[in-house]
Amino acid sequence: MSDFEDKLQNAIANPQNQGEMSDADSVGTVGNPECGDMVRMWLKFDEKDGKKVINKASFQSFGCQTSIAVASMATEMLKGKTVEEAQALSSTDLSSPLGPLPPMKIHCGEMVEGALRDALNNDPAGEASPPSPESQNTLLGDMNQPKMKSGKLKVVLKK
Ligand code: FES
Repeated sequence: MSDFEDKLQNAIANPQNQGEMSDADSVGTVGNPECGDMVRMWLKFDEKDGKKVINKASFQSFGCQTSIAVASMATEMLKGKTVEEAQALSSTDLSSPLGPLPPMKIHCGEMVEGALRDALNNDPAGEASPPSPESQNTLLGDMNQPKMKSGKLKVVLKK
């Protein structure tokens, strides 16, 4: 097994912070029509030393193992980060515990970054705004709908 495969299997054996967060301040969703995968991330903020920091993050992934592993690691990495620090994180940073992603899997990390950015953008004023009831739909529910109507679906194009 390659080093990447090894780390991947370890990460998905015990994913962290998986599942909806009922008291989240913000939620972001990204879908990729090419592979059909979706990632949703919830953020809860706190205030520390006058700065807004991520208190906790959780995710749902209806997709491949790599996106689950990266989302799990990313939600751990985000704890305690300020919004500015979180905004500065690239998909490479978020997936760094796995090591470099194979070319076919780079977009999996980008999905997680996209969900994070969407969640950060959904709380632009720094006010804690609860997710709309619509965005509280489960990912599986969204996937079963023929059309996304929330408008939160962002297409991540492969580079
Ligand atoms: Fe599409 Fe991994 S194969 S997110």
